[in-house]
Amino acid sequence: MRSLISVQDLSKEDVLHIVSISKEAREGKVRRIGGNVALLFFEPSTRTRVSFERACRELGIETSTVTVSESSVVKGETFFDTLKTFEALGFDGVVFRVPFVFFPYEETVRSLEVSLVNAGDGTHQHPTQGLTDLLTLMDRFGDVKGLKVLYVGDIAHSRVFRSGAPLLVMFGAEVSVCGPKPLIPDDLSVFGVKKVFDNVDEGIEWADVVVWLRIQKERQDRKLIPSESGYLKQFGLTKERYSRLKGFFMHPGPVNREVDMEGDLVYSEKSLIYEQARNGLFVRIGVLTWCLCDG
Ligand code: CP
Repeated sequence: MRSLISVQDLSKEDVLHIVSISKEAREGKVRRIGGNVALLFFEPSTRTRVSFERACRELGIETSTVTVSESSVVKGETFFDTLKTFEALGFDGVVFRVPFVFFPYEETVRSLEVSLVNAGDGTHQHPTQGLTDLLTLMDRFGDVKGLKVLYVGDIAHSRVFRSGAPLLVMFGAEVSVCGPKPLIPDDLSVFGVKKVFDNVDEGIEWADVVVWLRIQKERQDRKLIPSESGYLKQFGLTKERYSRLKGFFMHPGPVNREVDMEGDLVYSEKSLIYEQARNGLFVRIGVLTWCLCDG
């Protein structure tokens, strides 16, 4: 039994193992591992929640989905006591999405006899999204070594960036960032970032792949961008910028139309957005198999 809270805990071998199970799942080879998993979604989600639900069905795992408004958290129960309850009930795993940062977590993980899988915790980590994005780029480029990947937007609040960038760097990609100054953290070296672009057009010229991120208004306690239309003009994917992209672009979703990107560019030829969504299912099958099953 393993847990997955942060990509920083994964070795290269672990990642390759999960990617390999995910690819097998895509070819229809899925082990029916069975068991019981609780899906705690204490924050809104479409892609992650539905793909974990589907992944569990494919794996023969029974699920209990709990949202925050229907849980005893509203009566004052702590997150740890909620996890202890699922352990006591004999669940094999708990997949959780929460609005707060689950850190430090090592002692909690060690103390529970239930596998924990992070489906997004505050601004901290979203490991299955990072693995999905890595798989999507490996599909397109084979080897991501030397690939230049630019993340654009709300880097400060992005668990997608904090999960994706270290994985890409682990496999030899070069990662850079660009966004409004208040949304760029001071020390990015811990994520392997070497370059910060002030100007998105210079970043686009440098990059082989651009990952646009959503401006996370729900996590901002003060207005950090001047206006949504101003943001699109200065940092977003406009039709004019699209014409200058060298390669593909990604976005983890959900997309804020006319803020992160213009019009119907989500469906355009250079968009990998729906490949990311599709791979999300296979990666969640891979992660659950890796966490709950030996080998
Ligand atoms: N990318 C992502 O986590 O999407 P959801 O919030 O819809 O799950």
